Amino acid sequence: MEANVRSYNVAHLPGDGIGPEVTAVAKDLIDHAGKRHGFIVDWGHCPLGSAHYLRTGEVLPDEILNDLRKTDAIFLGAVGSPSVPPGVLERGLLLRLRFELDLYVNLRPAKQRPGVDAAGSDELDFVVVRENTEGLYAGAGGIAHQGSSFEVATEESLNTRAGVERCVRYAAQLARKRTGKLTLVHKTNVLVNAGSLWKRVADEVAAEQGLQLDYCHVDAASLYMVSDPGRFDVIVTDNLFGDILTDLAAALTGGLGLSASGNLNPARTGPSMFEPVHGSAPDIAGTGKANPAGAVLSAALMLDHLGEAAAAAELESAVNAVLARGGAPSTDAWAEALTAEVAR
Ligand code: NAD
Ligand code: IPM
Ligand code: MN
Repeated sequence: MEANVRSYNVAHLPGDGIGPEVTAVAKDLIDHAGKRHGFIVDWGHCPLGSAHYLRTGEVLPDEILNDLRKTDAIFLGAVGSPSVPPGVLERGLLLRLRFELDLYVNLRPAKQRPGVDAAGSDELDFVVVRENTEGLYAGAGGIAHQGSSFEVATEESLNTRAGVERCVRYAAQLARKRTGKLTLVHKTNVLVNAGSLWKRVADEVAAEQGLQLDYCHVDAASLYMVSDPGRFDVIVTDNLFGDILTDLAAALTGGLGLSASGNLNPARTGPSMFEPVHGSAPDIAGTGKANPAGAVLSAALMLDHLGEAAAAAELESAVNAVLARGGAPSTDAWAEALTAEVAR
């Protein structure tokens, strides 16, 4: 290899359903971008997901997790399958990766793109900073007396000061690089314990960083996202609210097929993980209809994180150019249109 060629060790975890279909398109575009911009991605294939689980009973073996820790980044498609009980792969694979790798920020940009007028507003351009390791996702809870009429099921939301603060701090720094406007979304009027912690921490961090802090309850935030999205720039919110609000944001910006995300380890003590916001979409898997743009935009976030900003910008421009011409009707047509666009 030439000495001046930059090289990245990236694990490709295609996963289930449309995951392999959409990440294959993005992976090709990354390889082509590397040729033009002077870098190589050394892909490692990680075959975890429903087929592997059904064959071996393994969800995320420790040896594979340890190999993943040594990579520069992870590129994931989607996990989850109707043939595996809910939660086995979602918790055991995806959430375990987020937790074990301490990917405490889930960064989900939402913007109105050319040719897509889903929300009827050209003012929609915000980023959701979703806390990614705590809250209702932490796994605190259980079932007692299962099957009896006394059965009780609990899920507890865990919020640590350190966990909230590092997430809010990331969001505040991002807001300073953008318009300086930060909105905390929570439900402080009902979830008074977690809400109090989030609000106090957000007030402190905003004051310290000289930022204007807005606050919205999550129900009203859903309304404003549709009726007045221009009021948001950086939204910081807890894990479950962020999950739900970003599917809504996806619907407002052209659909889940266009939405990207980065699960970030901002301290860079290990790899970050990039994946489209959508899931395995079993309803369209194998039909060739999956839109790979969300995976391509996630690849762009990954390239940006790796320091390849020019290649990242090129992928995003290619998606915008194809959208401006009306998009493409199938996965293959998207791949062809994007490949032609970057070759221009
Ligand atoms: P989903 O995101 O897979 O699909 C929701 C709807 O959006 C479906 O109608 C689907 O056809 C459509 N859609 C999604 N991606 C699309 C694309 N790229 N192009 C065109 N249409 C697209 O959500 P779901 O149906 O609730 O979940 C299916 C499975 O995926 C479940 O097992 C769930 O747990 C899992 N899931 C995984 C992830 C992840 O791996 N990050 C995210 C969400 C859901
Ligand atoms: C997402 C998904 C996941 C989440 C599931 C599959 C665990 O919906 O990435 O948005 O809830 O975070
Ligand atoms: Mn989700």
